[in-house]
Amino acid sequence: MYKTDLSVQISTLQMKNPVMPASGAYDYFEDNADVFPMCTLGAIMLKSVHRYPRPGNKPPRIAEVTGGMLNSIGIPSIGIEEFLNKGMLEHYKTLNVPVVISISGGSPVDYVEICKMLEGNPFIDAIELNLSCPNVGTGLQLASDEVLLGRTVQSVRTVTSFPLIAKLSPNVTDIRKTAKISEECGADAVTVANTYMGMKIDIQTKKPVLGNIMGGLSGPAIKPITLHMVYQAYSVLNIPIIACGGIMCASDAIEYILAGATAVQVGAGNFVNPMLMKEVIEGIDDYLAKNGCQSLSDIRGIANCRKN
Ligand SMILES: Cc1cc2nc3c(=O)[nH]c(=O)nc-3n(C[C@H](O)[C@H](O)[C@H](O)COP(=O)(O)O)c2cc1C
Repeated sequence: MYKTDLSVQISTLQMKNPVMPASGAYDYFEDNADVFPMCTLGAIMLKSVHRYPRPGNKPPRIAEVTGGMLNSIGIPSIGIEEFLNKGMLEHYKTLNVPVVISISGGSPVDYVEICKMLEGNPFIDAIELNLSCPNVGTGLQLASDEVLLGRTVQSVRTVTSFPLIAKLSPNVTDIRKTAKISEECGADAVTVANTYMGMKIDIQTKKPVLGNIMGGLSGPAIKPITLHMVYQAYSVLNIPIIACGGIMCASDAIEYILAGATAVQVGAGNFVNPMLMKEVIEGIDDYLAKNGCQSLSDIRGIANCRKN
């Protein structure tokens, strides 16, 4: 099907290519189902599920800004119990692609409880810990607090045998520290990264546009910054990195792989171009073939002089 070998492996999670949607920024059964061939994806990533039901934040929850968008959705969730009882995972498994569930919480205990409930579930292939939502509660992000981050990853590791992906916050001084803590505490991979805290003010009303005042910035504006974080994280890690931030075309994804990423996630770009992930997969394949490469490992990290 491909001209080259695009397969990647993250612990026991086997993907036929390195491309998956970013959590919360993609809908599998409504908006995109009729236009996008889901079976082409390397994996599907679900919207974060919380331990308990949550309404999400006050509207407006979305604002367009130059080079991207702000969201302050705040993870509305039916809670993990209802999510499991409703058979949501069985539903996703019908897409015949590995399923990564994203979970979020307010404290390490929340994550542990959810993972205990998921242990042995035949409908998931990996767990991503959303440790970095800027829109939940007080805005405290577990992945910005090194102690809490370590405690969360370590305690979850003791209760789950699924591949564990720690989704990190870019709102930190040095991503190398939080990435390394995640690795040392048992994560099988890290996702670099979530959104950047930002805001927009309406100069007519003289008030913040978002109901939550602040939100998370995503889209093309963040790509150079997240690319640098992937580059930095790769220099200290021995586990795979999933790059996430501002991918709008195949070249963006290729830059991330050259910096050291094993896989990539596409978020806001899907809103602009519903076929983007297919184009990214094909574009990576073309690039490898044109450059005489046989597999992703031929290019992974080769732009990274800190590692080589
Ligand atoms: C509308 C929206 C909802 C999101 N919801 C979640 C979420 O539930 N869990 C999560 O980990 N990240 C969430 N994110 C963050 C994305 O997964 C991703 O990390 C971020 O948007 C950066 O990637 P991008 O620039 O490709 O959009 C959300 C982003 C958007 C735009």
